[in-house]
Parts: sequence; C-alpha cells; structure tokens
Amino acid sequence: MNQFENLKTTEQEKIAGSMNRDVVLRTKEIGKYFYEPVKFKVLDNISFEAYKGEFLTLVGKSGSGKSTLLYCLSTMDTTYEGELFIENEKITGKKTDELAALRNKSIGFIFQFHYLLPEFSCLKNVMLPALKLGKHSYEEVEEQAYHKLEMLGLKDQALKPTSKLSGGQQQRVSIARSLINNPQIIMCDEPTGNLDSKNTQIVFDIFKQIAHDHGQTIIAVTHDNDFAKASDRTIELADGKITNHNKRNFD
Ligand SMILES: Nc1ncnc2c1ncn2[C@@H]1O[C@H](COP(=O)(O)OP(=O)(O)O)[C@@H](O)[C@H]1O
Ligand SMILES: [Mg+2]
Repeated sequence: MNQFENLKTTEQEKIAGSMNRDVVLRTKEIGKYFYEPVKFKVLDNISFEAYKGEFLTLVGKSGSGKSTLLYCLSTMDTTYEGELFIENEKITGKKTDELAALRNKSIGFIFQFHYLLPEFSCLKNVMLPALKLGKHSYEEVEEQAYHKLEMLGLKDQALKPTSKLSGGQQQRVSIARSLINNPQIIMCDEPTGNLDSKNTQIVFDIFKQIAHDHGQTIIAVTHDNDFAKASDRTIELADGKITNHNKRNFD
C-alpha cells in the first residue's frame, strides 16, 4: 500500500465514523408514469435510504429520471406509486398544506437557476423562508441570515441586491437561503451546472461541511462525475431504475 492509499483509508474511516446511520429519508418501491406524448414509466421500483450527515449524489444520463425523482422526494410531486418516508414519518398521502409545512421545516432547496429576487438584498433573500416559517422574530431571523451569509463568505455583500453579484456568489446566496430554517435535508438539482470549476469547488466544500460538521443530509443531482465521485455515496439511475445504489466513493 502506498502513502496515498494510506491517506485514503484514513479519510474513509473519518467519514464512516462521522456518518450516523440514522435514516432521514427512505423510499419504498417508488414508480411513476408520464402519459404525454405516450405512456411510459419514468421511475421504476426506486427503493433507497439516505442517512443523517450524508452527502449523497444522484447521477445518470440526461433523461434517466433524476429530476423527476428529486421532485417526488421534495414532496412537490405526489403522483407516484410506492411510499416516501422522511424522518420515519410516512409522507405519501399527506394533504397539500401538511406537505407545504413539512417542506418549509425539513427540506431546503437549491436550484440550478437560483430564483433569487433580483431587487432584494442578499440578506432579505436569505431571510424570506424564515419569515414565512414565522418561528422567530424579524431581528432573530436577520441575525441568523447574517450568520449563514458569513458561513458562505458573503457577509460583506449582505446589503447588495442579488442582481449585482456574480453567478457564483448568487449560487452561494441561494445555498444560504436553503439553510436558513436549518432543514434536516437539503436537495439540489444540478447546483453547479452553471458554475466554473473554482465556484464548483467552493460549493462542494460547503456541502461537505454541511453534511459532516452539521449532520444535515445533502441529496444532490449532478451530471458532474468528479463532483459525484468526491461525495460520500452515489446512486446511479438509468431508464428510471437504480442501477447502483451503494457506490461508496471512498472505496
Ligand atoms: N412533464 C413531463 N411530461 C412528460 N415527460 C416528461 C416530463 N418531464 C420529464 N419527462 C421525461 O421523463 C424523462 C426523465 O426526465 P428527467 O427526470 O427530467 O431526467 P433527468 O433529470 O435525469 O435528465 C425524460 O425522458 C423526459 O423527457
Ligand atoms: Mg434533470
């Protein structure tokens, strides 16, 4: 064994040790059809678990069903067969308003196109989901938003409108926004799709920190193989089926 392999083993043990085996999200035989232009099965028998403190990536060719699956996991799409559990609670079958409340509390979203409000400051954009949740006072939310922006290296940009920031900075604001309610799970669809390699690395390091230091779970759809390989585990989809769901990336 050379020195590099030794190092890899140490890293492997570190990650395995830090990863709590509590299941935070579980799917049981999820299946889904689209009917236009012709009926086809877009998701087929999807069963997997995501753990607390895990940085999980979903990969597969374009059209393999990644975004469709993430949409079901996010509870936005309820037209599927099978069952979804989040933090041991059965989510499938819940009413629209129950799902909205659950999403706001337990799930953070980061999109490829970040959907920030361009005229609002970074601070205000980050504060909005917490103001909507209504659990803390305006002043408390403001302080928490500053803290998240600081974590993402953006404290000095807090009062600027997001339209004045670079693409990489905007993506970091959208990450701060997804974290404001301290969700157990953070979901993202191609979060680095529009970023250069430097900003991709920054986002990657933040995700690792969120998962390993804060114990939150990241589920990230990506077509970037290097990004996926460096995450804790990769689930591979092809034609709506899981072809490999336990590819430990530190093996
Ligand atoms: N609303 C829809 N109606 C019909 N077909 C869809 C719809 N959304 C996606 N599809 C099809 O479902 C398949 C999976 O799409 P998607 O989940 O977006 O794949 P991926 O994110 O892996 O690229 C593709 O063949 C796509 O064309
Ligand atoms: Mg997609």
